[in-house]
Amino acid sequence: MDKYSKMSKSIKSKKISSNSTILVTGGTGYIGSHTIVSLIAAGYDPVIVDNLSNSKVSVLKRIAKIAGKKPPFYKIDIRNQKALDGVFQKHRISSVIHFAGLKAVGESVACPINYYENNIGGSLSLFSVMADRGVKNIIFSSSASIYGEPSVIPIKEGTMPAPTNPYARSKLIIEQILQDIYIGDPVWRMVILRYFNPVGAHESGLMGEDPQGIPNNLMPYITQVAVGRRKRINVFGDDYPTSDGTGVRDYIHVMDLAEGHTAALKKIVKMTLIKSKQKPLIVNLGTGRGYTVKEMIQTFAEISGKKIPYRITKRRPGDIATCYADTAMAQKILGWKAQRNLSDMCADAWRWQSQNPKGYV
Ligand code: NAD
Ligand code: UFG
Repeated sequence: MDKYSKMSKSIKSKKISSNSTILVTGGTGYIGSHTIVSLIAAGYDPVIVDNLSNSKVSVLKRIAKIAGKKPPFYKIDIRNQKALDGVFQKHRISSVIHFAGLKAVGESVACPINYYENNIGGSLSLFSVMADRGVKNIIFSSSASIYGEPSVIPIKEGTMPAPTNPYARSKLIIEQILQDIYIGDPVWRMVILRYFNPVGAHESGLMGEDPQGIPNNLMPYITQVAVGRRKRINVFGDDYPTSDGTGVRDYIHVMDLAEGHTAALKKIVKMTLIKSKQKPLIVNLGTGRGYTVKEMIQTFAEISGKKIPYRITKRRPGDIATCYADTAMAQKILGWKAQRNLSDMCADAWRWQSQNPKGYV
């Protein structure tokens, strides 16, 4: 028994068959859980694998409440190939959406080995099991952070990647591994999605972002200040070359992002029907519009009716001034475009946080 085996649930051998069965790694996490709801709404049957290192099993009840169905869940570390293989034996998986990974930039600088081991090691383990089982359709969660400090804005997919930290490098390395797998076996169908800044929550207020400890990201920090869990926000620098000096990012509603995955799945199915080579697709998922930190704080305060105290502090190392997506590729290739605006993002994030001040319990 390897070191991860004790985490895995025993999987009985009876095979469950369905051609709409999608394996979702990291499916109890923030983006994964919202995507599960979208998948069920679109008629898919997701199966979740997650080691719960950054999520809680109680999200499954919320998913069931919203979607009317509780997907099968396996508490498995994706580095445990044997346990993962058991899931492929039990379910007739047609495609995989691969979210599982560690995502905190600062932590990746402090603990690069963990990041490479978990993100790259986990992905290799998954790809290996997929190859053995002949499941060769994958959608992979990459990140806009692989672009580093872009010289041209909005950022197109063809921009030369220049990651500045181990987290972003791990994502780029996985993208490159996927490209190599495709070269070796062009039967694979791949969509690599580079997310910009996901925020917001399901409109029901039942599901949202629930970071462990002090939030690294702006939006969950704002919502925790609004709900009284934190005193004020530190705004990391107001001397950037932007309209008010604070950093500009492309915030995208998590449900828009989730729907981007169902669009990518439909694309994968079309790609599968074509027998000739179908190169891996790389697509940005963003809105194409940037907002400053001050604009985010102000809009959230207006929508929630709460005071959001903040103070300007020094820049956070590694931060860039401005980052937003060119979204033409997503529209052209996936027929997908973000539908929700900044007010929706703030209103939904606030509904989630105010109804669940301590997150999932
Ligand atoms: P999250 O931490 O909420 O979800 C990731 C899930 O993966 C968690 O539930 C965690 O328990 C699980 N996990 C981690 N390592 C695992 C392993 N070895 N085996 C099994 N499960 C494992 O993060 P998220 O915000 O939902 O992000 C999902 C994906 O999207 C990640 O790959 C992340 O890097 C990527 N991404 C996120 C953002 C963002 O700002 N949230 C931006 C760009 C890309
Ligand atoms: N910021 C603050 N105070 C905070 C947190 C953030 O002022 O407490 C500022 C940052 O300086 C930046 C903006 O808010 O200008 C957004 O910062 P986030 O930490 O929310 O997001 P990042 O753009 O730094 O990075 C996020 C994810 C990455 C992902 C990237 C994709 O953390 O994993 O978006 O664009 F890759």
